[in-house]
Amino acid sequence: MENLDQIVGEARSAFAATSDPDVLEQVKARFLGKSGRITELLKGMGKLPPEEKKSAGAAINRVKEAVEAALNERREDIRKAALEARLAEEALDVTLPGRAEYRGGVHPVTRTLERIEALFRSIGFDVADGPEIEEDFFNFTALNTPEDHPARSMHDTFYLLNPDGNVADRVLLRTHTSPIQARYMQAHVARYGQLEKIPEIRIIAPGRVYRVDSDATHSPMFHQVEGLWVGEGVSFADLKGVIADFLKSFFESDDLKVRFRPSFFPFTEPSAEIDVAFMSGKLEGRWLEIAGCGMVHPNVLRIAGIDPERYTGFAFGFGPDRLTMLRYGVNDLRLFFEGDLRFLRQFA
Ligand code: DAH
Repeated sequence: MENLDQIVGEARSAFAATSDPDVLEQVKARFLGKSGRITELLKGMGKLPPEEKKSAGAAINRVKEAVEAALNERREDIRKAALEARLAEEALDVTLPGRAEYRGGVHPVTRTLERIEALFRSIGFDVADGPEIEEDFFNFTALNTPEDHPARSMHDTFYLLNPDGNVADRVLLRTHTSPIQARYMQAHVARYGQLEKIPEIRIIAPGRVYRVDSDATHSPMFHQVEGLWVGEGVSFADLKGVIADFLKSFFESDDLKVRFRPSFFPFTEPSAEIDVAFMSGKLEGRWLEIAGCGMVHPNVLRIAGIDPERYTGFAFGFGPDRLTMLRYGVNDLRLFFEGDLRFLRQFA
């Protein structure tokens, strides 16, 4: 019979020669498989004389157990080594700084628009809107700005191009939010025109507007908030009261002077520009222009289908970008639109 101890030694070194669990199982078959060395030994016992069988059987079983023990030991070693390799590979460096979650913030101009909406809603105004790509009719004509009116050249207008490259017929990026007045009044009349008396119109309309202009206080895209109040007996005194109250609430200050300076707009008569002066702080005593306003021109009411003999109204147009600059002490309008997070984070 083969040297049994030698088999155990061979098995050990064969197991040790691999660190691949699949290969290990194949090596195992060479010893313990159907026609493995030890299985063959057990089969061979049949040929032994009866008196030797018992001791030979016991000896072969010891070898078998030793080989099985060696196999299990090797399996365990390989498993541990694999685990350690994985742990080393997936090591966590607990000294690394954490990854913060970035939270978005509301843009300062959006903040201003939200404040304006909230303040006007609180005194019964609705919020209306209109298209940024506007028709010449609503942007100019319906606002009492005829074809050859000099006011048309007051606005440097972006016109749209047709696919053929020619300027589209009377389609433009709105130069102000005032066309929303015209659209809203027209729709209002379509809806309530048959009534004995049309319900009051009381709206603000915030939005983006566009002009060919760019410097520290002008951006080709900026914001406006339009306001319109039309009804019976609406007067310039109402306009002044609404505006003064709004400004005091907006700037959270009673220490504020408001001035109405005569001006010209085609869609209002009389017209005024609104200036504010702060009575304290960095801007103390300086008058700053923040809005245009006036009594809605009879022609504008008439074009919308409203009888100017019976109804009157006032309108105004604020520059919320300007209001934001004043409220937060920002001196360059372009900062709002460049998307520089170092600037914007201060408001988050
Ligand atoms: N639309 C004017 C502009 O962009 C601003 C304005 C002035 C609006 C007077 C008004 C108003 O509603 O009454 O310059």
